Amino acid sequence: MVKRYTTGEPINTEAVVKAVAASDFSDFPFEHKTENGQFVFSFKMADDDIIYGLGEAPRGINKRGWIYQSYCSDDPFHTETKQSLYAAHNFLIFRRYGIFIDFPARIRWDIGYTKADAAEITIDGTDFDIYIIEQDKPVEIVREFREIIGQSYIPPFWAFGYQQCRWSYHNAEAVENVIKNYDRANIPLDCVYLDIDYMERYKDFTINKEAFPNFEDFVADKKARNIHLIPIIDAGVKKEDGYDVYEEGKANGYFCKTADGSDFKGGVWPGIVGFPDFLRKDVREWFGSKYKTLTDMGIDGFWNDMNEPAIFYSEQGLQKALNEAAALKGENLDLGKFFHLKDVFMGLSNSQDDYSSIYHEVDGKRVNHQKVHNIYGASMTKAAGEHFEKTFGKEKILMFSRASYIGAHRTSGIWFGDNHSWWSHILLCLKMLPSANMCGFLYCGADLGGFNENATRDLVLRFLALGAFTPLMRNHSALGTRDQECYRFENAEDFRDIIQARYRLIPYLYRTFRKASEENGMIFRPLSFDYPDDKIARECETQLMLGEECMIAPVYEQNVSGRYVYLPEDMTFVKLSGEKVTKQEFKKGVHYVDIALNEVPLFIKKGKSIELCKPAMRTALLDTENLEYI
Ligand code: GLC
Repeated sequence: MVKRYTTGEPINTEAVVKAVAASDFSDFPFEHKTENGQFVFSFKMADDDIIYGLGEAPRGINKRGWIYQSYCSDDPFHTETKQSLYAAHNFLIFRRYGIFIDFPARIRWDIGYTKADAAEITIDGTDFDIYIIEQDKPVEIVREFREIIGQSYIPPFWAFGYQQCRWSYHNAEAVENVIKNYDRANIPLDCVYLDIDYMERYKDFTINKEAFPNFEDFVADKKARNIHLIPIIDAGVKKEDGYDVYEEGKANGYFCKTADGSDFKGGVWPGIVGFPDFLRKDVREWFGSKYKTLTDMGIDGFWNDMNEPAIFYSEQGLQKALNEAAALKGENLDLGKFFHLKDVFMGLSNSQDDYSSIYHEVDGKRVNHQKVHNIYGASMTKAAGEHFEKTFGKEKILMFSRASYIGAHRTSGIWFGDNHSWWSHILLCLKMLPSANMCGFLYCGADLGGFNENATRDLVLRFLALGAFTPLMRNHSALGTRDQECYRFENAEDFRDIIQARYRLIPYLYRTFRKASEENGMIFRPLSFDYPDDKIARECETQLMLGEECMIAPVYEQNVSGRYVYLPEDMTFVKLSGEKVTKQEFKKGVHYVDIALNEVPLFIKKGKSIELCKPAMRTALLDTENLEYI
């Protein structure tokens, strides 16, 4: 059963697609009050209550014991002390309730942070809808929630192949080398990414012709070899006279404004940019149609970035900082003055002052950015997704985004942003998978091997062994970090074994993915969803259920030859390594299992089986007819 509690004049985020009659708050199931323009509701938690949800967010599968904020944030340090990542997924499960707050501004979720046994949720406004779903079991809550928000995006089949990214492959030769080296090492590959340097001076929808001469032929050549090139698109449009996208945006008034009605100017990769007002339908149609420049050249996949939006500095913010620095010139900077100056410069990026100075047009009305912050990136992705569906139909174009809000799950996937080459980030990825699934985001994954900092060979292998199950299986690393492509490391055969295992699993993973999308289910579930009365399963945060058949338990620590795993029932322990399959029967209980660096471990439930195909160098070459069953 779903109920919608509505107050004020909510902004239509388009998160919900099914009509739900509005109720007043007389039977709202939680204690609530409106205070200082904020709506606060709370509930008491028993010791053994588990709180699920919040999608892409820091910390555990069980969200208790921390405070979170829904506020899409460009922050590359995903430490456990953070309150937000790039997304705002306002969905929570508490006992028999699913709670979805459809509100595009800031929400604070104090889940046992201030008081261990209490959750207090503060909505920063009084215009919103809260949907309360009541069902017996968490999977049923999720199913009913997903029914009202609509079917999850399904990417093309090839998007389940292995993908290699790097900031950046600077020219055609660099891209070609990646493909050649993967082919030489006999490691399967389906996609190579084009990060910001493929563009001319970081201008969206342009090609750096010096670095990529004959781009169209280049794309066609790769396609003939079953390799898809996936360019990045950033939210900001470079301010440059004569650049058609900027000129059109300016002439038509498509960019976000400041209070005085002039275009807001922020600095990102290209220097000063205009931010398209994606909240306007006409702007979405315009920006969406721009992707045609690249699809006309044979491109069939994109990643949308910097769309929280990330703002390195604003013109006014930078001016203020420079003035402060100039005023201090020649002074003997003591503790107070030095740190103040440092803070002024450090605070330039993604500053609250800047966000507060931006205005949008929503349904003809001027609206401050802070009121709609969390749907900005989702609206950019909607612009692209809607254009693709209209032009090419469903399941044709790969599309995923950094910032997101529920609703965007219908037209795109997400990746979990700029993580680190840290062991702890293998687990962080694992924990976000079921949470993102609850919120409708099925096509997702982390930067495998870690984006920031230098990766080690064993970390990349262990990360890939988890990535062997994530729909998006992409290795990505930042500028200036150690090269992270599989063939860069000694004994590339180990990497081949892991990635071949992935290709063998693709028929099963694809089937599981489609089913989850079509039946509003989850690919990954916490163990507690399936074994609610099993204390150890309820508390497990390092293993996941996968589909109807499997449990996964990746290795997430360095210098170990395996891990402890908890089996809530008898299962078959399976290790995939290249074409090799090893099996061992295990009884319910705790076991230490050996897992070598070149093995992908999984557990199959009694009475279930999964299908495997033979590995191939590309998804297009997989024989999905002749399957072997374990
Ligand atoms: C952002 C993205 C990252 C990309 C970089 C350069 O940090 O999150 O994936 O490589 O920008 O475009």
